[in-house]
Amino acid sequence: MTQDELKQAVAREAIKYVVEDAIVGVGTGSTANYFIDELAKLKSRIDGAVASSQATAERLKSHGIRVVDLNSVNELPVYVDGADEITEHLAMIKGGGGALTREKIVAAVAQKFVCIADASKLVGVLGKFPLPIEVIPMARSHVGRELVKLGGQPALRQGFTTDNGNLILDVYGLSILKPLELEAELNNIVGVVSNGLFARRGADVLLLGDAAGVRTIKKK
Ligand code: A5P
Repeated sequence: MTQDELKQAVAREAIKYVVEDAIVGVGTGSTANYFIDELAKLKSRIDGAVASSQATAERLKSHGIRVVDLNSVNELPVYVDGADEITEHLAMIKGGGGALTREKIVAAVAQKFVCIADASKLVGVLGKFPLPIEVIPMARSHVGRELVKLGGQPALRQGFTTDNGNLILDVYGLSILKPLELEAELNNIVGVVSNGLFARRGADVLLLGDAAGVRTIKKK
């Protein structure tokens, strides 16, 4: 199977977690896009969707799926999204597409986070994928210097502005042995809006696609 076929397979499997007559949280990226395409097939059986980015909102709307504001939602049973890296403990690096802050907000509200990924995303230690950090523009240099002190090599994502009007620093060279601690430490740097470590609120279920099919890994 190609990587795209694996992404499609996990997206199809994630549909089983969608709760009928409820709002579903929808992530961002190529795997989440496959999920949106699957979701469109049962759009009459859901109440609508909360989008984690403008791109996702547009795709949902293009399929005729109602997009609702997170603030008008009392309960969000499930959030489905991809990841750039994920461990067996279901901690993740996200934000390759730059949507990490909104993804983190929607994930925080959701009762269950279902991560959908092809097998290339499963790692022993997080950090080979550069860790995205959303920063307030005027704090870019300050945050960069603080990241160097932590042992990282930050690079400004060129020509990119987030949906929130901010910048992304991609941090290379980190070997993240303690994701919970690092997530909190990064959040404490003034000027950081959020970081792409999803450890405090990791996934609850990982649907991992490989040649043998879709494996379900649940949080221990
Ligand atoms: C978007 O900002 C990211 O968090 C995505 O969820 C992540 O980059 C996975 O994207 P793909 O499904 O395209 O690999």
